[in-house]
Order: sequence, then C-alpha cells, then structure tokens
Amino acid sequence: MFFRKPIIIGNWKMNKNLDQALSLVKEIVTKDLDESVEKVICVPYLYVNEIRKILEKSDIEIGVQNMYFEKKGAFTGEISPTMLKSCGVKYVILGHSERRNIFKETDDLINKKVISALENDLIPILCCGETLNERKENKEKEVIENQIKKALLEVDREKISKIIIAYEPIWAIGTGAVASLEDAEDMCKYIRSILFKLYKDQANKVRIQYGGSVKQENIKDLMKQENIDGALVGGASLDVSFSKIINYKL
Ligand code: PGA
Repeated sequence: MFFRKPIIIGNWKMNKNLDQALSLVKEIVTKDLDESVEKVICVPYLYVNEIRKILEKSDIEIGVQNMYFEKKGAFTGEISPTMLKSCGVKYVILGHSERRNIFKETDDLINKKVISALENDLIPILCCGETLNERKENKEKEVIENQIKKALLEVDREKISKIIIAYEPIWAIGTGAVASLEDAEDMCKYIRSILFKLYKDQANKVRIQYGGSVKQENIKDLMKQENIDGALVGGASLDVSFSKIINYKL
C-alpha cells in the first residue's frame, strides 16, 4: 500500500471582505494543527498577497479557486498560472461544479487548465461530480468517468501523482446532505479504478478527496474510508472551527 498524506482543503468561494478574511486566517494560525495533515486554504485572488504573509508562519499552504490556462496576453479579467506562481500560490481548484454550471466551463477548457497548471508547477485540485438527476438515473459512474478522462487527456504518467481529485456530488454541495459513507467510498474507489486503467500503479499515489457538506461531525468517518484521502470543504471552512476539521484525528 502507498502512503497518501491526508489533505484538507478549504474553499472559501466568493465570501468575506478583506478584514474578515484576514482576521479568520490570523485566528486559524494560532491553533495547534495536526502536522501529519496537509492543509490548504483556497482564497479569492484579491486576498492572496496579504493572506500569504500571515500563512508564512504556519504550515498552511495557499490556493485559489480558478485560473486561465494562458500565461499572459489579451484576456481581460483573467489570472494566469505564472501570475499565481509569482504570488506564492501553490494549489488551484479546477473544474468546480460552480465553474462548470454557472460559468459554463467545458471539459475541454478544464483539460487545458489542468495541463497548464502542471506545466507551471501548480497543483491542480480537479473537481468532478454528478447532479441529483444523474444519480437518480444511475448515471453517476458514467458521468464521473467522462469528466475524469476528458480532464486528464494528455496528462503524463509522471505528472499524475501531483494531481488531487475531489469527488463532489453536486447534490451534496452546500445542502447539508452529505453522501453516505458507502457512496462516497464507492465513488472514490471507482475514480481510482479509472486512474488505474489510465496510469497503472501511479493511481495509488493520487489523493482523492470527498467534498460536499463536510463538517466537524462527519469528517472522521469519511477519512476512515480506504479511498478517501482528504476533503474539500466549503461552508465549514469559513470560520475558525475549520481547524477542528483539520484536526479530525486528534
Ligand atoms: P460545501 O462545499 O462544503 O459548502 O458543501 C464544498 C465545495 O463546493 O467545495
């Protein structure tokens, strides 16, 4: 068995003004956090520089929630991987269901972003997940396989172990309706089996997270599942009790 370091990632989405953002991060860094867990907070672009200075004194890494795939040029309103690198960003969420559904991001665009993030030494957190209707029609595996295969098109075998995959059923995001432990494990296991077909034993190195209504009360049981290596946390990362999710083992 490969050892996969657990990784807990907060996704703030479009929340908090600057003062609120800084005071939350200042409070989190005062907490004793489990060193055996990798921790990332994905913040709005605007706050990266100030938050990074606060996080420097901790082992929490900084991430963002999106990026464009080009390095520079006439792309009004976009942020490039090289810009992110120059500001000390290490992780980038790609293909979140809110980007797919509200901003109409396609699998092809997400694939370009994944390749560009890896080329520019950023760690992609690639999200996938089915809608409630797709699950009701028993299409969840087909949907996930399609999303993963398209997002990873032409991603090299040597690079795959850097990627983090977040399985986030859309019906569980922000709803309080967490997937059952069986369903969450079954889907993460299925994602690993897709990776096995594509990348053989490299699949054992890829960390797969569950996301969707993760909170202090359910994190421990989720993390006990064999194929769940971490969590992508939205709502419950917006206050200092996020530190208790990070410390799920203690
Ligand atoms: P949630 O969001 O934890 O608020 O359900 C998860 C996500 O969208 O990443």
